[in-house]
Amino acid sequence: MTTARLGAEHITRRFGSVQALTDVTFSAQERTIHALLGENGAGKTTLIRALSGLDQPDEGWVVDRGERVRFAGPREAFATGIAVVQQELALSPDLTLLENLVLGNEPTRAGVVNWRRARSRAEEIAESISARLPWDRRAGDVEVGTQQQLEIVRCLYRGADTLILDEPSAVLAPSQIDGLLRLLANLRDQGNTIILITHKLEEALSVADDVTVLRAGRVVHAQATAGLDRSALSHMIVGEDLQQVRAPRVTEVGEPVLEVTDVRLAGRQRAIGPVSLQVRAGEVLGIAGVAGNGQEDLVEAIIGLRPCRGGTIRFQGDDVTTASVSSRRAAGMGYISADRRHEGLSVTESLVDNVVIGAHRRAPLARRGWLSPGAARRHAAGILRRFQVRHGQVTDPASLLSGGNQQKVVFGREMSADPRLLVAAQPTRGVDLRGIKELQETLLRARDEGTAIVLMSQELDELITLSDRILVMFHGLPAGTFDPADRDARTLIGRAMLGESTGPRAVVEVDS
Ligand SMILES: Nc1ncnc2c1ncn2[C@@H]1O[C@H](COP(=O)(O)OP(=O)(O)OP(=O)(O)O)[C@@H](O)[C@H]1O
Ligand SMILES: [Mg+2]
Repeated sequence: MTTARLGAEHITRRFGSVQALTDVTFSAQERTIHALLGENGAGKTTLIRALSGLDQPDEGWVVDRGERVRFAGPREAFATGIAVVQQELALSPDLTLLENLVLGNEPTRAGVVNWRRARSRAEEIAESISARLPWDRRAGDVEVGTQQQLEIVRCLYRGADTLILDEPSAVLAPSQIDGLLRLLANLRDQGNTIILITHKLEEALSVADDVTVLRAGRVVHAQATAGLDRSALSHMIVGEDLQQVRAPRVTEVGEPVLEVTDVRLAGRQRAIGPVSLQVRAGEVLGIAGVAGNGQEDLVEAIIGLRPCRGGTIRFQGDDVTTASVSSRRAAGMGYISADRRHEGLSVTESLVDNVVIGAHRRAPLARRGWLSPGAARRHAAGILRRFQVRHGQVTDPASLLSGGNQQKVVFGREMSADPRLLVAAQPTRGVDLRGIKELQETLLRARDEGTAIVLMSQELDELITLSDRILVMFHGLPAGTFDPADRDARTLIGRAMLGESTGPRAVVEVDS
């Protein structure tokens, strides 16, 4: 016998002209993992905002243990045990994990915390779900997978029994994702209920008991996961079985566009370098690594966001080692930031303003340096259409778009500027199956037209599909360069990412 834990009855939610949810009824059973799936803009986040009291539906009810309720806010939902595990982790980096766990929760009694008791409770909870947390380390010093585990334990510590996670694996490396999935299974086995949003079908298939699929704001499928495979699930979500992108190269690689020589820099966690690499026109260099091994810092140095302490960066033959970000962009570098909400977009600004940022000094948008509003709107609308961004008005703030659609805006803006070098960090993060396929095809078309591409991605499959060579970073240094066409590429790269010896087949890059 199963018992309904949390669900919705006939929920409808409109935002102006956008109908985000229409008559949505769904139910997550107690002690199960329920996957909530659907394309970008399908309404997943809107639905869980209603379930957790963050947003109020226009019509319909939240169903809390069989009872129709309307949560006035997240506190009310939390009081009945419903918690959202935040994706933008709200931890204080200078406090220890234990301090973060305790202090965030008992503001009124801070100062009279019984640390010994707090620690033993925390340890007990963590142990019950086999989470291993270094309680005395600073939150800012542990990797994001550990921070996420802390968030989960924190929810339990505060008494939650129902956890909602919105694309939790988007920020994790493959090895960390396995850990997260095991943790979710343990949570369920301990009697908790999980609602999991993900774009990765393998995740849903491997841990979820049930799936509900949304399409354009309506429930189109709700069933047990048992018996489903990837192709069936893909059909349920997009109406077809999407094939992986495959794109044989159509042109030869050209001149070197980017030459990084013996670059050293101070990274977030460690010193980086010396690193040397080269990317030619019409070539994709993949950069792999477990988060925190310096690949993010390296990419920032290439685009000019992080100063070099040694070595040189040449772009189209010119030394740009000390050039500003804007002059590098003006010279033809495009950048897709891994952090779209803080760097890639200005979420409070309109879609038009976001799309024309960086493009506004070029004709046909500008006349004598001033932006023509009509041209800007037309330009933005064209890009949004071409990249199939689901949006309302072009004058709406970017914050109103769903996560995946925000990513498409950044991608579209950078690609439409026709860069000579595109530095793409996690370009498909948060994007749905169909969108990933389109973005990947766009990257490969740009490659064929002669753009040099540096692709940093957490997705090994994506790197293998798109790259001509893959550089692995480990502890701030190159751990080898690999040929993705190699039959054993996956294994070899995986090992190099963990710092294991890769044997004679790794080609260490000097100046290829
Ligand atoms: N506050 C808001 N104002 C206007 N429109 C909104 C608002 N919140 C969501 N929307 C719109 O509602 C629709 C559903 O958005 P939602 O964020 O729920 O999608 P999602 O399924 O979570 O997509 P993704 O996979 O990209 O995260 C989108 O078209 C979005 O632009
Ligand atoms: Mg969402």
